Amino acid sequence: MAVLNHISSQEAMALENKYGAENYHPLPVVLSRGKGVFVWDVEGKKYYDFLSAYSSLNQGHGHPKIVNALIEQAQELTLTSRAFYNDMLGRYEKFTTDFFGFDKLLPINTGVEAVETAIKVCRKWAYEVKGIDQNKAQIIVCKNNFHGRTTTVISFSSDPSARKNFGPYTDGFIKIDYDDLDALEKALESSPNIAGFLVEPIQGEAGVFVPREDYLVKAKALCEKYNVLFIADEVQTGIARTGRLLATCGNCSCKNKNCSGTPEVKPDILVLGKALSGGVYPVSAVLADNEIMNVIRPGNHGSTFGGNPVAAAVAIAALEVVRDEGLAENADKLGKIFRNEINEYIKDSEVVDLVRGKGLLNAIVINDDEDSDLAWDICLRLRDNGLLAKPTHGNIIRFAPPLVMTEEQLYECLDIIKKTLSEFE
Ligand SMILES: Cc1ncc(COP(=O)(O)O)c(C=O)c1O
Repeated sequence: MAVLNHISSQEAMALENKYGAENYHPLPVVLSRGKGVFVWDVEGKKYYDFLSAYSSLNQGHGHPKIVNALIEQAQELTLTSRAFYNDMLGRYEKFTTDFFGFDKLLPINTGVEAVETAIKVCRKWAYEVKGIDQNKAQIIVCKNNFHGRTTTVISFSSDPSARKNFGPYTDGFIKIDYDDLDALEKALESSPNIAGFLVEPIQGEAGVFVPREDYLVKAKALCEKYNVLFIADEVQTGIARTGRLLATCGNCSCKNKNCSGTPEVKPDILVLGKALSGGVYPVSAVLADNEIMNVIRPGNHGSTFGGNPVAAAVAIAALEVVRDEGLAENADKLGKIFRNEINEYIKDSEVVDLVRGKGLLNAIVINDDEDSDLAWDICLRLRDNGLLAKPTHGNIIRFAPPLVMTEEQLYECLDIIKKTLSEFE
């Protein structure tokens, strides 16, 4: 391993390119260290991280409290599997269900596994509680969704590169337009076999599409009317990213002072991942109340690593940091500054069409075709100027820094972003 301590950027990229499957197209920068809002490349150049591992690092890189929780727990007990009880899982489940206001939690590892879990819970509820005929359950999803990469989940993706040549696909999903309540009601009326509506409160990967203000509340009300479960995929939007604890936050009984949003909806099934661990360890979870989660019985579902003691210790620490450091409030405040400043810039810009987002989940739309290289070139120049961001789709650049950023740091980043954009005007 000593050799790797001295690897250059060129060498590291050559190794990945030669020995790694080419399932990503990274920006050419090789990172070896992170602290708070900063990362450093192997040559020692420092950057602001404006992607936060797709909103996993809300608590910042290497948060000492979370890293210590990892180290201390790893020295005691890392894994028992669920064949036995461990002394951390129950504590984590109590802490997290209290935190978000649900009866029960099902622990798992990655975001897509949590989405799969939610789909399974929803289908089982449909057969055993709602009384839908066997194998007839349908779940409504939205076009341009991103819920992960498993075979079932890509079965209802609209992204050809995620779907093509991976068939046959899983049945049982109806796709409707996002942010369209009429389409939702039509789909709900279309069949007695609708079990759930799976939705991202903001479509992140699609390019940070924020629905109209009352969309989630009205969608939840429609789901109630038709006895259909409202499933919120908050893998990307949750854990303070959008300026409140959850983007759907409201009726949950978390009583968290960081829950700064106006009351909105309590999902029937809540899906969390990413920043649930502060980016330190893969931890995801599905939360629901007893009448839904109790359909899951021994043997129905599980995972070797799901609910392991390290994950439990890390997630408790990660949530405590969100609460104790006021990250939702900070994201709310800095997000407003970010959008105001970029909107000012846009008034005289030929390059940027608009900025949109909530809290510190934002995107700018570049004034060019979806398949142009301009957004990519801007990200390369941002990198040269000390800030790392990446296009989501073609001409859209997502900006999602760690939520531990200070106002002063944000203004410095805005200077870098505006200066970089002006080089393309
Ligand atoms: C909304 C949403 N759901 C699910 C996922 C999948 O999470 P993971 O990559 O941890 O499987 C993502 C990842 O970006 C996401 O944004």
